[in-house]
Parts: sequence; structure tokens; C-alpha cells
Amino acid sequence: MMAMLKRLLSLLLSCFSWYLISLPSPPYPDPAEFIQCLREKIPSELVYEQSSSNFTDVLASSIKNPRFFTNATARPLCIVTPTDARHVQAAVLCGRRHGVRLRVRSGGHDYEGLSYRSPRPDEVFGVLDLASLRSVSVNRSESTAWVDSGATLGELYYAIARNNSRVAFPAGECPTVGVGGQFSGGGIGMMMRKYGLSIDNVLDARMVNANGDLLDRDGMGEDLFWAIRGGGGESFGVVLSWKIQLVQVPPTVTVFSIGKTLDQGAIDILTRWQVVGPSLPDDLAIRVKVQGQEALFLAVYLGTCSSLVATMGRRFPELGMTSADCRSMTWLESAALSFTTLANIGTPEEVLLNRTSSLNFSNKGKSDYVRRPISKAAWNDIFSWFNTSGSRYIMLEPHGGFMDRVPADATPYPHRNGVLYIIQYLVFWQGGGGTAPPAAWLDDFYDFMGQHVSTNPRRAYVNFRDLDIGQNVVVDDVSTFDGGEVWGERYFMSNYRRLATVKAAVDPTDYFRNEQSIPPLL
Ligand code: FDA
Repeated sequence: MMAMLKRLLSLLLSCFSWYLISLPSPPYPDPAEFIQCLREKIPSELVYEQSSSNFTDVLASSIKNPRFFTNATARPLCIVTPTDARHVQAAVLCGRRHGVRLRVRSGGHDYEGLSYRSPRPDEVFGVLDLASLRSVSVNRSESTAWVDSGATLGELYYAIARNNSRVAFPAGECPTVGVGGQFSGGGIGMMMRKYGLSIDNVLDARMVNANGDLLDRDGMGEDLFWAIRGGGGESFGVVLSWKIQLVQVPPTVTVFSIGKTLDQGAIDILTRWQVVGPSLPDDLAIRVKVQGQEALFLAVYLGTCSSLVATMGRRFPELGMTSADCRSMTWLESAALSFTTLANIGTPEEVLLNRTSSLNFSNKGKSDYVRRPISKAAWNDIFSWFNTSGSRYIMLEPHGGFMDRVPADATPYPHRNGVLYIIQYLVFWQGGGGTAPPAAWLDDFYDFMGQHVSTNPRRAYVNFRDLDIGQNVVVDDVSTFDGGEVWGERYFMSNYRRLATVKAAVDPTDYFRNEQSIPPLL
């Protein structure tokens, strides 16, 4: 009965707000009217204009990549920092009415900075920064939680474990990443072999659509609910919060980190890992970081040291792991470890609550998926790309387990059965600037890797966003389906078409748009 009433109400609201969609957008943005509209509807202390004394601080507050914080970076007209859903609704309505698009920011970790900058210097846009909407409310008896998009993963992990240390949530390794962006694109992490991606554990969501309506799962319907769980951020509206299913973890987990140089057989072990890693028991994940002339094997096991040693001896003796490599700790302590080395054991868990991270290093990332093991000879060639100095590494994360059992169209994330692992490529350099030499090295290495990874299409992970693989083509102020196909099919395979169909139904005038948002299939 309640659900029916909600559906009726949402139908009425969407009929009422249809006039907004059918109104032609103003021919060009009207920034002054937009700001005026915001000022009338949102408390003034939540709206920062470029002239505000702390505008730059608020803008920088969650920028993770100084590449997009230079004098040449196009800055937003204003930043709105809502503390309530009504502020978000008002900002969307003002934006629609006065032709100003909003870029939504949760944790600011977008690899291309699309949540707070525009690659087009002439674009007039506002930023909706959700950092103040970050509560986490755990329901212990249901083993569920509602988490706001502006919370970081660290804040989420901390709140869950403080309430009940026997439950956790499968998501990424870096605690400063925002829930909003990560859940919008998938959420891979060290528990995905056991429990899947973050999106596989989302039960409900609250969002504001392009009409300014506030919708929950019942109100938005199953197609839109499907699309927001993995279809990439920004495309369908502003997701305010997510209801998630928490997952069981043992009282202690075991981690290890074992480095192997070329002399210690890194290539043989890595070649073997490609087959073993994705087929180990689901509660064990071993990721590999290749940097310089070393392969670093990093593991999290949801169990005890003794059973881990037995499993490793049986399934992966080549690594030579022994009980001396085990470090036992609570799951929350493991979440607080450095996500690229599993170092800093003993750091207080409160580190998870730290939202800030250094702005010292610019970076550029790319991704690939591997479905057939790369040969030993090819690994020899790959390591030769890392024998010169430079801050760069690749991270290999095993799929398999739970991931193999989810159909490719169950969520927009299609890289399921048959994927052995995902590769993330990362280069770093000091300070800002967009065309630093390491990025050129990355382009060449990525070209070289094409022969070893998935093809037709060459796949990529939307959360490791890469504008080099394509950007939207806008015709008559709407992104075209064909223009998005190049990058869309690489991120979403055949789910791209369904995503574009949903977009056409909920945002046909393409209000929520960035360089890789889903175009409407009209
Ligand atoms: P940000 O706020 O920049 O948003 C990213 C995109 O989503 C933007 O397009 C934005 O407009 C949109 N968006 C944000 N909030 C939204 C909302 N509430 N509603 C609608 N759209 C919204 N990934 C992973 O799966 N596993 C991992 O372990 C890691 N680790 C990792 C480490 C580091 C250091 C970085 C920089 C990144 C990762 N990632 C990752 C990738 C990460 O998941 C990806 O960059 C996310 O989009 C970041 O989410 P944020 O909210 O922080 O970004």
C-alpha cells in the first residue's frame, strides 16, 4: 500500500515537473540569474562564489590531483555545499532554469577531475560539493546501513566496525575516496572475490533527478536503480545516499606483503599468479603491484594465519609464503593499512577519518582487463618498461570467485565471468601541469600492452576514468549516442545501450552531463 502511494506521488510529481523538461533551455547560461536563484533558495553560507574569500580553499578541499588545480584550470562559477536534500533539489532547479550545469563532487578522486573542473575553458558550471552530507547510520539488527554520498570509504568502514566489528563492507582500498563516486562506478576491492563489488551490495538509494524530484528505489523504478549502480557518476542525477547490505567478517583477518625481485623469480611467480589468483578460495585476495624490477604480492585473507599457510602451500607454493609473513588484525585495522604496500601496521584506525590527502603529486591512470594469462616471455618485455627511473606502477587485482557468478548485465559493470584480473596503470609526477613526460611514457606503455589484454572492445573500468579513450560529442546541446559508443562500450560493453535508454527516459535534455556521461538514446 505504502509503495503504491509512493509510486503515485512520484508519478504526480514527475507530471508536474514535466514542464521543466519540455521548456527549451535558455540559449546560453545566465550566471547572474543562476546565482540569484541559489541565493533565494539556499542559505548564503552554503554558496561560495569566486569572489568569496574562502572559495579557493573550498574548491581545493577535496582535489586529489594538482594536475587539475593550476591557473589554467577552468574553475566553477560557484560551489554549493548542501547540508540537506532540499538544497540539492534547489540547486538542480536553479541550474535547469538558468542553463547552468552542475558538476557533482563527493570525494573528489575522479582521475580526470570531472567533478570540479571542465576540460573546456569556456564552460560555465557550478559545483555541488556533497562533503557536508556524510552521515552513516548502521542498523545492527538488519545488518544494513544508510550512507551519504559525501562520506569517505574510511568514514564508512570506521562507522560500521565501531557499531559491530563482525561486519564490514566490500569497497575500495583508499580511505579518502568518496562513497558517491565510487558506488556510482562499481567499487572494486579486496573483498570482491567473496562478496562482489560495492554495487552488488546496494539495496536502495535516494537521489535527486533532473526535475529536482527526490526519489528512492520505489520512486525511481528498477531501470534507473540499475543504472545508478555502476553506470558512472553524474549521468542520471545526484545520488544523496545509499542503503547497503553489510557483510560478515571474522574477528581477525590475516594480511601479508611479499616482494619478489627478478632474481627471486618474480616473472615465474607472476605468470603463475594469473591462473591461481582468480581461482583461490573466495575469502583470499592477492593483488600484485609491479614497480621497478619487483612484483609485490599483497594479500587479505578472511581467516586465520594457519589456514592461510595451508591454503598457500597447497595452491600457490611458488610464492614461498610462511607463517612468518602473516600479520593478524581486525578487519578495520587492515582497512587502515597503506593500500599499495600494506605497510604502516599499528597506525591508529582513526586515520580512516582523515579526509585530506597531499596535493603533491599529479597523476594519470588507465586500465585494462585480462582474460587470457600473459605469457612469461611477455612479462619479460613488460618488466623492461620499468627498468628506468620514474614514479610509475601497475596494480593487478584478481577477479574470479563471486565476480564470476554475477551475470554481465546484472549491473552496468560487465567485467564478470572470464575476467582474470584488472590492471590499473598509474604514473606520478611532482606538482601540477598536464603534459608532464610520465604521461607520455604511459601512452606508449598502454599502446604496447594492447596485444596482451582484452580486445573487441579493449575494456576499461569507468572508475579509473580516462578521457583519452573518448569524450562525448554534443550536437544541439545533447550528447550523441554514437559519439559515446567508443568509450561507452569499453566501460560497459552491451550495457551501454541500456544505460543510454535509461538516460533518455530520465534526462532527455542531457542536463547532467560531463565528457563521459551517458548520452540519451533518443
Ligand atoms: P568524485 O567526487 O571526483 O566523483 C567521481 C565522479 O562521480 C564524477 O563524475 C562525479 O561528478 C560523480 N559523482 C560523485 N558523486 C556523485 C553523486 N553523489 N551522484 C552522482 N554522481 C556523483 N576505485 C575502486 O573501485 N577501488 C579502489 O580501490 C580505488 N582506489 C582508488 C584510490 C585512489 C587514490 C584514487 C584517486 C581512486 C581510486 N579508485 C578506486 C577510483 C575511485 O573509485 C573513483 O575515482 C571514484 O569515482 C571516486 O569517487 P569520489 O566520490 O571520490 O570522486
